Amino acid sequence: MSRSIIVASNRGPITFERGPDGAPAARRGSGGLVTALSGALQEAEGVWVAAAMTEGDREMAIASRGGRIQHDEGDIAFRLRYLDIPPEVYDGYYNGISNGLLWFAYHYLWDTVRSPTFGADVAPVWESYVDVNRRFAQALAEEGDREGGDTAFLIQDYHLALVPRLLRELVPDALICHFSHTSMAGPTYQRMMPAQVHDQILRGMLGADVLGFHSPMWAENFLLAARQLPGVRVDLARSRILVDGRLVAVRIHPISVDARAMREAAATQRVRTLRRGLNRWRNNNRLIVRVDRLELTKNIVRGFQAYELFLRRNPDWIERVRFLALLSPSRVELPEYREYTEACVAEAARINDELGRPGWSPIELRAKDDYEGALAAYGLYDVLFVNPVIDGMNLVAMEGPLLNRRRGVLVLSRNAGAFGRLGRYALGVNPFDLDEMSAAIGEALEMPVDERTRRARGLSRLVLANPPARWVGGQLEDLERALRRRPVS
Ligand code: G6P
Repeated sequence: MSRSIIVASNRGPITFERGPDGAPAARRGSGGLVTALSGALQEAEGVWVAAAMTEGDREMAIASRGGRIQHDEGDIAFRLRYLDIPPEVYDGYYNGISNGLLWFAYHYLWDTVRSPTFGADVAPVWESYVDVNRRFAQALAEEGDREGGDTAFLIQDYHLALVPRLLRELVPDALICHFSHTSMAGPTYQRMMPAQVHDQILRGMLGADVLGFHSPMWAENFLLAARQLPGVRVDLARSRILVDGRLVAVRIHPISVDARAMREAAATQRVRTLRRGLNRWRNNNRLIVRVDRLELTKNIVRGFQAYELFLRRNPDWIERVRFLALLSPSRVELPEYREYTEACVAEAARINDELGRPGWSPIELRAKDDYEGALAAYGLYDVLFVNPVIDGMNLVAMEGPLLNRRRGVLVLSRNAGAFGRLGRYALGVNPFDLDEMSAAIGEALEMPVDERTRRARGLSRLVLANPPARWVGGQLEDLERALRRRPVS
């Protein structure tokens, strides 16, 4: 395919931090998106447009004077364009609307008796959100122009929901896919957003030719929400939408992880050393592991409580099992995230206080960004505990089974997008039900070895069967199909 690819996302594939010599040095992000897209970008010699998030990024953006930065690293290469956005505008767009409002709405995070209450504070942050989306659309139009027009635009996530429409206004025949990496709430819940935000977000996304989701659950919720907009016709059976005389296809493309890259990353000397250290630390205990961002959707507190319940009901497991929680700090600008972090730490401390024994604590909580530590822990778990309240996909549930060496069992929330793919080899749980989660921990720890083997093999087979290239490839095919369906002008 000769079409060039232009990707847009809030967080770029790499960030620049000032190195010891004072010069900005690149650090690759650990996100699944980079992995999934890097292959396609390389083939198509594509461009990636992202917001400058660190001081280092900003310096690079200024030094490149709005141009492209070439980044080569091992077998990946990018051309990057960073947008240098004034900090107060970025704050309204990222903390105010993206993470403070849309993230809450899409993940059912409000405690509706008390929140949300929208007041005069919404208008200015909404203005910032529109402003940043406009800057992205403008930059994409310019980059498309430089590429000579034969371009596919792949726009990522809720930060950039208005970009499809804004870009279409600038480049009416642009070929646009917007992909949501989050879950989508049902239409009633989405209507809790201020009406103009709700409508404009939906209409913004509808500027695309193709809208991608990780799971049929989220696609269906989007279709139902869009159906409420005047002048928009939704064909639920064919999963497509007619708006402004254009067809928008709503499609499912579950993202995956790059098995080869992960196995290489887990085979380094550093990870081996960490793995040996962890193995000594676990001693003769069985090991339950969780790996998460310190994120409201991840359900960390209830996870600890379910484990506590398990230990109280099965005291013979005391001093025979340990729960290692590797949690990386996230979105610390938002008070809800800071409070949640405190709640996680306090709950682990309480359980350790009440159930600990000399030389043995039931929970080990490590709150830091430690991807290599996670790779080491993946090798060693007997139970991988993934219990989000709700989750667009969840890559931990895929990474773990690829690297685990102990035929570990996956306990997985039925509300994670990943459950649709992996559920038949996992122990499914309702993330709100301590009783069910605690029983699943028991079942996982007691499971006979041949059953564990069957499930562990099934999981890694499913992950290997869906390489990341398929995720991008599917979207590009959808776009070609959309192009063929367009009326000839
Ligand atoms: C989710 C979103 C991503 C986002 C990531 C980390 O997975 O779908 O778009 O990048 O969380 O969040 P952050 O705010 O740190 O970029």
